[in-house]
Parts: sequence; structure tokens; C-alpha cells
Amino acid sequence: MGREVLPVTDAESYLRSTRRFSTPFAGSALASLALACGSGVTERQPPSAHSAGAPSTSSEPPADVICAEPLEPKAGPSLQQAFEGAFTMGVALDPTTFANPESESAELVKTHFAQISPENVLKWSEIHPTKTQYRFNDADRFVEFGEQNGMAVYGHVLVWHQQTPDWVFQDDAGQPISAEGLWARLEEHVATLAERYGARIGTWDVVNEALMDDGSLRESPWRTILGDDYVAEVFELVSRLMPDSRLIYNDYSMFLPAKRDAAAAMILDMRARDIRVDAVGMQGHYNLRRPTLDEVDAALATFAEAGIEVLVTELDLDVLPSQRDVQGADLDAVEANALDPYRYCLPADVDATVAEHWGRLFEVFVRHRESLATVTFWGVSDERSWLNDWPVRGRTNYPLLFNDQLQPKTNFAKVLEQAPPRD
Ligand code: GLA
Repeated sequence: MGREVLPVTDAESYLRSTRRFSTPFAGSALASLALACGSGVTERQPPSAHSAGAPSTSSEPPADVICAEPLEPKAGPSLQQAFEGAFTMGVALDPTTFANPESESAELVKTHFAQISPENVLKWSEIHPTKTQYRFNDADRFVEFGEQNGMAVYGHVLVWHQQTPDWVFQDDAGQPISAEGLWARLEEHVATLAERYGARIGTWDVVNEALMDDGSLRESPWRTILGDDYVAEVFELVSRLMPDSRLIYNDYSMFLPAKRDAAAAMILDMRARDIRVDAVGMQGHYNLRRPTLDEVDAALATFAEAGIEVLVTELDLDVLPSQRDVQGADLDAVEANALDPYRYCLPADVDATVAEHWGRLFEVFVRHRESLATVTFWGVSDERSWLNDWPVRGRTNYPLLFNDQLQPKTNFAKVLEQAPPRD
């Protein structure tokens, strides 16, 4: 999946950009939302209100659209219970969930997941925005939420070319910093986080997205300043400062053979030099076209054969057309509609196709459960997913297992169907 850069920087930007229908939450007792499911469809009801950001180009949807319905809650296993013994189920959180530990989304997380990742609050831009300032509040609450609910806590991220403020790469005179200066900054940053959180954060993404899709090393300030061996040297530094955390190399599009093989070679090379890399993270920002299930299967097989444990770290499934599918640089009303076709609801037939894809994806995951440790969804529900704003702002996407009202979707049932039989 090629990516243009359109960073979504913080939780507030999600909130501000949310333009889904203002339907009140159903108010169901999500604490007891352990579900197995049946599904049905009903006639689409036009939404009673649009949020402020709804596209002005929208017209009434065709009357013959049948909207997918959420599943009927029934007693049954949670996601984590269903996949216990296969892999851990994780989810990425923003502050609206972990800062409101009794909210419905928090209850849903407690029910279904055993590990949490922070969408943003441990990134440099959030926790260390200026040289002299650390903002620990949100990160502390994130870690405490995991601890109080008996969940494993995942750290994301120490070295990445995005969401890292410019000051990191500049000396005090605003000039490009020396390698020595940047090593000192990184050491101080990692040591500070290690001192504050230690083994409470059991796993860390140490380096994120250092490779290009062709397997070459990405140009980035880290590489330019620290040199071509910086990934290995960063792992060496972090393993010294964070001896009790598992250390991960994380990247997207790891299903591309060139990138996958380069990542495996890079990790094996570090291990041959006695540098600790505990596992590889395959982000898993997928869509219905790519990767193919065979590509996912091949990537998992490659890492397993290399003896490298895999974590799927950022899973979601974009169901919207890509800009490449819709011709025309100027987005007039017709093109905008084509790019954002499910503003009112996800049609039941599309929902069925998407759910089928989810099921087949988990079939592949389960097949590789010996070498796959964790599957982490990138967000709790569709409403707040970054994919509503990337790569096109302000669309209505349906990339996760729970809908805007935190109700389970057909996807959820199809995923659960793949849970391996229990002894
Ligand atoms: C990348 C990063 C994540 C997040 C997602 C998009 O995958 O690793 O931190 O920014 O993009 O939300």
C-alpha cells in the first residue's frame, strides 16, 4: 500500500473532524457485551442530523439502499476469550477512551481486549513537544488504564520520521544537529520513558517505518544524521535502557516481498551482531484489494521460517475507493460522491463482502498462530478511525469490527467464526 503523508496528529483532530451522524448511543450495557451474533438488514433510514463537517455535495441516497444492521447482542465469548491460546487481542486507544474509564468505549475495550496501544500519546510530538517539556498526563492515564484492567501495555513509538518535532533534529541555534547531539537527545528521551514506565510498558515499537516499499532504507532525519546503521544502533541503545521490555521493528506494507525480505534480513543481521530485536510488527493497514490473503500468508510464513515472531500491530480494513480508482484531480460533486459512497450507511451487500474478507484474513492469522503473538486493531470503533481522514479528509469509512454506536458488526461475527476450537 503506497502512502502519501497526511498525518492525523491528535485525538482532538479526530473529534473535530468527526462528521458522522449524531445518533445517540444505544445505551446498551457494554460491560456485559460478550457477544456471539446474528445479523439482519433493514431499510435505510435517512439520518436525522448531519454533523457540521458533512459534505455539502451530499444528496439523498437512493431509496433502494439497504443498510447493514449491527448484530443482535447475545451471550458468548469476547474476542479475547475466543482467541485465547491463539494470540492476544489488542486495540489502539485515544484519550476519549482511557481518560473516561467508565465510558461505553472503555467498557467495550475491557470486555474484548487484553492489550492496549496508544494511538498518539507516546509519540515525541505528544509526550516531548519541546526540548525542555514532557507532557506525561495522557501517557500516565493510558498506562494506568491498562494496569487497572489487567491488560498488557504497548509502547508506540521511539524512533519514527513522523510526529517528531523539528527541535529534535536541530541544535540550540536552530542548525542541523550533530550525530552526537541527536544520540544524546534520544538517550535522554528513552531513559526518561524507561525511568517513568519501565516494564509497565511491556513492549515497545523501537523503530517505525525505516524501510521503503522496495526494501531500501528510507531517507529520514534519523538516517541522515545518525548514518546508515542507525536502526541497529538504536536497538542497541534501547535494549540497554529498556532491558525488561520486548523490542519491536514495526512497518507497513510488510506483505510486499521486497520490504518483507528486507525487514527479515535487517532483523537477522542485528541478531547476528547480538543486538536484541524481539519481534517484527506488521502494521496491517489493509484494504479490500491489497494485500491479497496469499500475500499476508506469505509474509507470515517468511517471518516464521526466519524464526521471527510477528505482531500485527495496527489492523484496519479501508472499505472506500482509493483516489486512484476515481479519476480527476478536481473533486467536483460527482467525484466526491464516488470517493465517499457510504456516507449514509454501509450497504448490506458491501457489509457482507467486507465481513467475508475479515473472516478470511483471520483464517490466515489463525493458521500462523504459532508465530503470531498479537493482533491489534487500530482503533475501537469506526467513528474515530483515522481512515475517515486519510488519505482523503472527511469521509465515512467502516474499517473496524464495531460501528459508530460501538455495536458489533457482521465483521465481528465473521472474525469470531475463525476462533480455533478450544480443548
Ligand atoms: C502509522 C503509525 C501510527 C499511526 C498510523 C495512522 O501506521 O505507525 O502511529 O499514525 O500510521 O493512524
